[in-house]
Amino acid sequence: MKRAIVFGATGGIGQDICRDLAASGWSLYLHYNSKEQFAMNLAQDLFDKYPNQDFMPIQLDFNSSDEQLTEFVQNLLPVNAAVFAQGVTNYGFLGDEDLANIAKLIRINLAVPIKLTKLLEPQLMKQSFSRIVYLGSVYGGDGSALESVYSATKGGLTRFAQAYAREVASNNLTVNVIAPGAVKTNMNAIFSKNTIEKVQEEIPLGRWAKGKDISYWVKTLLDKRNSYLTGQTIYVTGGWLL
Ligand SMILES: NC(=O)c1ccc[n+]([C@@H]2O[C@H](COP(=O)([O-])OP(=O)(O)OC[C@H]3O[C@@H](n4cnc5c(N)ncnc54)[C@H](OP(=O)(O)O)[C@@H]3O)[C@@H](O)[C@H]2O)c1
Repeated sequence: MKRAIVFGATGGIGQDICRDLAASGWSLYLHYNSKEQFAMNLAQDLFDKYPNQDFMPIQLDFNSSDEQLTEFVQNLLPVNAAVFAQGVTNYGFLGDEDLANIAKLIRINLAVPIKLTKLLEPQLMKQSFSRIVYLGSVYGGDGSALESVYSATKGGLTRFAQAYAREVASNNLTVNVIAPGAVKTNMNAIFSKNTIEKVQEEIPLGRWAKGKDISYWVKTLLDKRNSYLTGQTIYVTGGWLL
């Protein structure tokens, strides 16, 4: 049985990743932070469709201590793949940001994914094939004013994945980043209709991405046949910016 853990399974993109992976035969840990009921409903829905696979909701706040992160990983059944689809952002000038918020954003988007990767490494290395995918962002390649810390975390994931992929390549563990452009999810719920339309006008493909536009690439990277692509950041932006 192939099993993946999807961090941020309750997010707009994460839930589509879970649906695509389940349809491709993966058993899943559905990670959530606050939306327990949503994760339970998603797990039940997937189990109804794919009764021969396991779907297990699992909670972890990425603000947890190192001891809690270690215990979380120690309690997992073996996984072949980890997808990091959690994430947060803050809109505003760096000068207006408080220091605790800066640290929190770096922790949730970059530092804890790196720590969890280190902790998962021994079990990923034991598999005949294993995969890691981080959700980056177009802003990791083309920094966005008013999201400077977010841009830094996403750029950081891109460089981390490239370097780490080289460390583990000989163990059949591939490491990549899928970097979306603008996707209609809660993360963008604060934007006005006018702003959404303005962004849409800038996207050559003429529309915002749906979760499915992104999950397709995650599913493809996790496929066993994708054994030779590693260390890459793939920008899925409808031609926007990069
Ligand atoms: N939407 C876009 O336009 C866009 C563009 C480029 C990149 N991305 C990236 O794609 C990924 C998914 O984004 P999305 O749009 O799906 O976001 P979303 O709908 O806002 O979902 C965010 C996810 O992060 C989890 N999360 C939030 N705080 C957490 C914490 N303290 N600890 C652990 N998990 C936490 C949430 O869990 P709960 O809901 O259970 O609390 C949820 O599953 C993110 O990395 C984002 O940066 C998004």
